[in-house]
Order: sequence, then C-alpha cells, then structure tokens
Amino acid sequence: MTQVESKLQELRAQILSLGREYARLKQSAAAPEGAKAYVPASGKLLGEAELVNMLDASLDMHLTADRFNQAFEAKLAARVGVRYAMTTVSGSSANLLALTALTSPLLGERRLKAGDEVLAVAAGFPTTVNPIVQNGLIPVFMDVSLPSYNVAVSELTKAISPKTKAIFLAHTLGAMYDMDAVMELAAEHNLWVIEDMCDALGASWQSKNAGTFGHLATCSFYPAHHITTGEGGAVLTQDALLRRIVLSLRDWGRDCWCCPGHDNTCTRRFEWQLGRLPYGYDHKYTYSHVGYNLKLTDWQAAVGLAQIERLDEFLALRRQHAAFLLRELTDLSPWFILPEPDPRCESAWFGFLLSVRAEAPFTRNEVVSYLEAHGVGTRLLFAGNILRQPMFTNTAIPLRLAGDSTVRLSSELSEAELTQLPVTEFIMRNTFWVGVAQNLTEADLAQTSAVLHAFINEKCGGH
Ligand SMILES: Cc1ncc(COP(=O)(O)O)c(C=O)c1O
Repeated sequence: MTQVESKLQELRAQILSLGREYARLKQSAAAPEGAKAYVPASGKLLGEAELVNMLDASLDMHLTADRFNQAFEAKLAARVGVRYAMTTVSGSSANLLALTALTSPLLGERRLKAGDEVLAVAAGFPTTVNPIVQNGLIPVFMDVSLPSYNVAVSELTKAISPKTKAIFLAHTLGAMYDMDAVMELAAEHNLWVIEDMCDALGASWQSKNAGTFGHLATCSFYPAHHITTGEGGAVLTQDALLRRIVLSLRDWGRDCWCCPGHDNTCTRRFEWQLGRLPYGYDHKYTYSHVGYNLKLTDWQAAVGLAQIERLDEFLALRRQHAAFLLRELTDLSPWFILPEPDPRCESAWFGFLLSVRAEAPFTRNEVVSYLEAHGVGTRLLFAGNILRQPMFTNTAIPLRLAGDSTVRLSSELSEAELTQLPVTEFIMRNTFWVGVAQNLTEADLAQTSAVLHAFINEKCGGH
C-alpha cells in the first residue's frame, strides 16, 4: 500500500468513526420513550449502520450501483430464498419490470401478448394494476374476502378464461393470499404468477417465504415498508432467463449485462451478431428490449444493506405491535372487524386493518377523522375499489369482471357492474388501517387503543 493509500484508509476510518458518534448522539437526543404527539401510520428506523454505509458509499464516489448494490442484492436474495434480486428505483417500477418481462420475445410462445388477460384485484395499490394496462393486457378483477383482505378463492375459478395467462396480486398489508389455491390454479392452467410482496417482505405461507412462490416477485423500499432505501425496490426471481430480461428492461433495454462502469463482461463485446446490425456491433449499444432506465444508486443500496440486516428485528416489532392491538381491541369487535391473516400465513404486518361493521352506528369517515384529530394517523386500503378511481372513470380501459365473459370499458361500467365486487365496495367505504411499524413503541399503540376506545364511548356510550 502506498503512503497516500494508507492515509486515505486512515481518513476513511476517522470519518466513519465520526459518523458512528454522530448517529449515537443523535439517537440519544431523540424524543424520550412515551407516546408521540402523533402516532404515524408508518415510518422508518435508521441508525448508525445506515449512516456509516452512506458515508462509506460517499467516500467511494462511485455514485451509480456498485459494491453496495451487489452486496444488497445478494443479501436480499439470500434472505428471501431466491437466486436473484435486482434492485430498482421503486416498488412501482419493480412491478412494471416484472410484468413487462413476461412480454419479452425471449419467452417465445409463453410471452404475454396484447389482449391476454391477467387476474387482479381492485382493492389494492394502483401500481400493481397499472403495468397490466400499460402493457396492453386486460385486467380481470376479482373480489376479495374478509378478514384477510386477499382474493376470495372462489373468484379464481370464476375469473379464468382461455385468454388468461397470468396472476398478478399483492399480499395485502403483509398477509399472504391463499398460495395453495393460487399456485394450484396456475399449475392447472399454465399461468405466470407475480407476487407483489411490496407490503409483505418477511411474510411466509406454511413456513415458505413470500417471494419464493411466483415466477417473479417485487419489493418496495419506500420508507413505509419493512426496510427502506428512501425510494427503491427490487424484482426477485429463481429463473436465469427472467433475470436476464428484467436486467435488460431495467437497463435501457440493452442486451449487454455489464455492471455500471464495467466493460466486456461477456468477453465477446465486438463479436456479436444480433438483430440486423453488422457483425461486431458494440454489445454495449445493442438493445434487445424496449426498455427503461430504472437503476438504484449505490447510496440507496448502502442504506438497504444495513436495513436488510435489521429485517428480523423490524418484523418482530411489527408482530409484537399487531398482537398488542389484537389483544387491546378485542372488546371493540362488535363495531370493527379485526384483521385475521389466514392461519397458514405468518403475516409481515405492514399495517393493522380495521373495518367498520355495516351495523355500526357511525361511519368509517367519522372514526378516521376522530383518530386524526386525536393524534393517531390513519390510511385507507389504498385505492379502495380502483374501478371507481378517476384514472379508470376518465379513460376507456378494457377490463373484465370475474364471472362476466364480456370485456368492458372502464369508463362505461354501470353502477350495477361496479357493485359486482361487493366486498371491495365494502372495503372502499368501511376500511382503514393504523400503524404497527418498527418506529412505534408500545406507548404509541396504547394511545391508538385509548383513542379508539374513547371514540366508541362517545358514539356508543357507556362502553
Ligand atoms: C402493494 C404495493 N405495491 C406497490 C407499491 C409501490 O411501491 P413504491 O411506492 O415503492 O413505488 C406499494 C406502495 O406502497 C404497495 O403498497
């Protein structure tokens, strides 16, 4: 090692050590234990390891994905139990990449073609559904069931038609859908399966991890999620060809698979003959897909690498918090449906879902307004019934409803057709969720419970 190199190493060690000291001091100066003035519905926990990794990545001055990204992808894949993890800029882009990958010409006859159908639900996040529409495919909307908030198994067989080629569903708020039923249907009809596990990192079904069932799975690392990189996401797969397609789509559509800043990984850079290009056209500038650029930076991956080490700690906290609320709120079950994941699933508890029972003498909006006014953050189950969202009513999107053989346009759905998903409709009007994330303490959850009890006392008296 030269003198300069050893000096650089010494300075790096000093900077990282100062970072550790800074993070520790900052943490000790944070608000004392006890209920917060506002209990947020979600949030992140960052500390020493995340700051040190960010500083370390800054000192590398590499900027684009490099050693931290490689390490993060490897740890994420190992933790979930898949061969490949490919980071991307968000969970939404992971969903776009996963579904678009299934349209690749490299899949031959199995590729999805415009007009093919993909099974979906309307009670969920929009960007689980959007890639279906963005790729010219037809979403087939199924109803969900309570209290799991996942697809109703009876809907699966009702929804299928000869045009159905894939199932693309999210595990709702950490609770997995019936993997036995979904995988059986997929095997029977030779369907692709994508697991949107953006809200379910760390969940399992009969001890098998979310993300290991489908051909592809997706994660989000937005701060509300189990681990964070700020913005960020990942596509997971066991399949080498799907991996190659996702990487191509993520990285401008290129055929070359060199990491940023590297050349000639294939050792045949000027020896390919592809498309109708002349022999030897630089592989670096050869494009086999109509792609995007959706790559993560090394800083983000540096945070993710520290966070994935803490996933089990975060999951334990989330499960503890959910168990606390289930205990504390049992006496409110005459008014609220409490969340109940399928007994075969160990939920990752993204949030704690509550539905106001139809016979309750108050509305969901009343309870949500009361909670917010009394310092408890709330969220809805995302789009509610997505078919009623302006994005669907403003635009003529071809779609089908489970049990109905006609493809209809979203902007022309009648009120009767919209109510063909009765549980989804109920969720849109009656459901909300409160926080159980790792940033909360038991005092916060006690506050959530106290405010809900106070609301019931006011509304229903004498409770
Ligand atoms: C189920 C689900 N899928 C996809 C996403 C999109 O993730 P991102 O915000 O990282 O784009 C979210 C966002 O929370 C989500 O809940």
